[in-house]
Amino acid sequence: MQQLWGSRFSKKLDESVNDFNSSLSFDKKLCKYDIQGSVAHVLMLKDQKILDEDEALLLVNALNEILLDYEEGKIVFDTAFEDIHTNVEKLLIEKVGDIGKKVHTARSRNDQVALDVRMYLKEETKAIQSLLLELLKTLLDISKQHTETIMPGYTHLQRAQPITFAHHLGAYIEMFKRDFERLSDSYKRINILPLGSGALATTPHNIDRYKTAQYLGFDDVSLNSLDGVSDRDFIIETLSDLSLIMTHLSRFSEELVLWSSFEFKFIELDDGFSTGSSLMPQKKNPDIPELIRGKTGRVYGSLVSLLTTMKALPLAYNKDMQEDKEPLFDAVETVKLCLSILPPMLKTMRINKDKMLSAVKEGFLNATDVADYLVKKGVPFRDAHECAGALVAYAIQQNKTLNELTIDEYKQKSILFEDDIFEEISPQKSVLSRKVTGGPAPDTMKKVIEMNEKWIKNNEQN
Ligand code: ARG
Repeated sequence: MQQLWGSRFSKKLDESVNDFNSSLSFDKKLCKYDIQGSVAHVLMLKDQKILDEDEALLLVNALNEILLDYEEGKIVFDTAFEDIHTNVEKLLIEKVGDIGKKVHTARSRNDQVALDVRMYLKEETKAIQSLLLELLKTLLDISKQHTETIMPGYTHLQRAQPITFAHHLGAYIEMFKRDFERLSDSYKRINILPLGSGALATTPHNIDRYKTAQYLGFDDVSLNSLDGVSDRDFIIETLSDLSLIMTHLSRFSEELVLWSSFEFKFIELDDGFSTGSSLMPQKKNPDIPELIRGKTGRVYGSLVSLLTTMKALPLAYNKDMQEDKEPLFDAVETVKLCLSILPPMLKTMRINKDKMLSAVKEGFLNATDVADYLVKKGVPFRDAHECAGALVAYAIQQNKTLNELTIDEYKQKSILFEDDIFEEISPQKSVLSRKVTGGPAPDTMKKVIEMNEKWIKNNEQN
């Protein structure tokens, strides 16, 4: 069988060109969508009387058979045909003969491939969103148990002020919620039907694009055929959403690695989610968060790769665009893999409350509370800050913590200090007093957790 475009050519495609040109090895992933898209196209052609009932029935049945064979792994694709679209068409022609050749009426591979990728991304976006919800639920469950687990909060990776473990996890909950919402937003632009754009200038046949959109569950149709075939913004947007997911996963992973270290020991990953060293018998390594952190690079790479591919392409379709698929597929698979492994790892990790609390007790995390104590007594914050700083310097000199200084030592710096200072600067009090929305106080955090539980319920329904 000759190429579906072979008649204009006097020579067969050179073997090396075929391999170079072919996208089959990766775009076969689009097989299901290619077939479903063709079924909808045929039904629309029948509605528009471009195909008669019998022809349409024959084509739809044959396409469904091909889909079934594909799902049962019975199809051997022919590498002589360069992509999934020509392969499906060739299989169809083999099955039903010349009528199969009618499926491509009013269609081009240019609008077909744009359709297939959009259908793929609609499904994958939903899949990634449900993995994000699973992760969010896991984080919320853990948070609920730790609204009173005090730990150091850091800036510059230096102990800064006491917070709670729930508060710390809550920061990631907000990030993953935004990730979810970003995907919902780009979904709106994915959900636009490009089919009917033809090669670049639509078709002279009386097709009904809104019908096809309806059959395939698209919200709308693209309004410019040049853009319809050459727009890859929706892929770039998704890759950018995925890159940010990886940024968040990677920051979290970095903390899990740090917290598992001997120096921190805030958490211990379950043996089932850690690995050993073939050389050093004592080692227990956090390979999983390290790998998540590492895989972030390839997802960023996918984004930059497609941005670069697209940056100087003239309208409309150019073969360069075939390079969109491998980075996209790789990024989608990578993100799904990372999102799936995290919840079971988090559910089984041990949280070392004692270590967290003892880390809060050293490092003068309550110095701000000393200053705020004075502020409550009318001292301007700058002066209070200076006084607390002097107390810290003095305590360092004496090799003591702020709790270990005597009231007389406090009074030497300001007469406003009273005995209640010691209670006021306890980590529990420090956390308790930060009840402003967004803060770590247990009751505030519980309210936010409730709000986030509602958020999850609402988004599960959609
Ligand atoms: N394999 C191609 C791609 O992925 C399909 C579109 C080919 N169109 C063309 N005119 N050669 O972009």
